[in-house]
Amino acid sequence: MLKGNVLAVTSGKGGVGKSSLAVNLALALKKLGKSVAIIDLDIYGFSVPKILNIDYKPKTFNGKIIPVETQGIKVMSMGFLVNGNDPIVWRGPMLGKMIEHFTKDVLWGELDYFILDMPPGTGDVALDMHLMIPESKEIVVTTPHKAAAFVAERAGTMAIKSNHEVIGVVENMSYFSPPDSDEKYFIFGKGGGQELASQLGVELLGQLPIQEPDESSEAPAIPTEHSPLEEEYLKLARTIDGKF
Ligand SMILES: Nc1ncnc2c1ncn2[C@@H]1O[C@H](COP(=O)(O)OP(=O)(O)O)[C@@H](O)[C@H]1O
Ligand SMILES: [Mg+2]
Repeated sequence: MLKGNVLAVTSGKGGVGKSSLAVNLALALKKLGKSVAIIDLDIYGFSVPKILNIDYKPKTFNGKIIPVETQGIKVMSMGFLVNGNDPIVWRGPMLGKMIEHFTKDVLWGELDYFILDMPPGTGDVALDMHLMIPESKEIVVTTPHKAAAFVAERAGTMAIKSNHEVIGVVENMSYFSPPDSDEKYFIFGKGGGQELASQLGVELLGQLPIQEPDESSEAPAIPTEHSPLEEEYLKLARTIDGKF
C-alpha cells in the first residue's frame, strides 16, 4: 500500500510523452514543495533512469529497497534491476509481481505524491495496476492529432471501467513557438486533447509546447529553468495539485 496520493500517467500510445510528463510533473510538484516519488512501471521500456540521468543502483536495507533519490525525488525503475540495456523477456504474472515488488518492497515512506509512469496501451501492467492500486487516479496523455486521441481513449475508458478516477487529459506537443516569439505553429494538428477530454467527460488540464531538447545538458528531456515548457509543467502541477 502506497502512503500518499497516487497518479498514473497513461495513454493508449507510445511516444506521446508519458515518461517526460511523469518525470517533469514529479519535478514540478517537488518545486511546489511536495514530497514526490516516481515509479517507472514501463517494465519493458523503462526510460525514467535515462531521463533523470541516473546511472547508479538503489541500496537495500533488511531485504527492502531504498529508492534512488535525485533532485529531491525518490525513484524506482526496472532499469535499476537489469544489466545495461539487456532486453526483458517476461510473462504476464511476472509483471504483476514486479508491481507488487515496487509498491511493497521499497521503503517509500509517507509522501505527498506517487507518480506512476505507465507503459503504452492497456495490457497486463495496466490491468495489474488497476487491481493492485485501486486508489490511483489517472491522467491520459495525447498529442493534438485526432487519430492519436482516438487511440489514447482506450486507456481512459479502461481506467473509468476499473473505477479509477481520470482527473483529466494533457495534450503534449500541442504547438511550437520559435524562441522569443508568441507565434504558435500547430505542427501535429489541433483539437485532439479537447476531443479526448470531451469523450471521457473530463477536463483538458494543459497543453504543452514542443520544445527542442538541450543536448548540451546531462538530461536533455528536462527543460531548462524558466523555459516555456518548464513554466507549463509548473502550471500543470498546480492544476493537478488542486485536484487532490
Ligand atoms: N513537449 C515535448 N517537446 C519536445 N519533445 C518531446 C516533448 N514531449 C516528449 N518529447 C520527446 O518525445 C519522445 C517520446 O517521449 P516519451 O516521454 O518517452 O514518451 P512515452 O513515454 O509516451 O513513450 C522523447 O524523445 C521525448 O524527449
Ligand atoms: Mg515512456
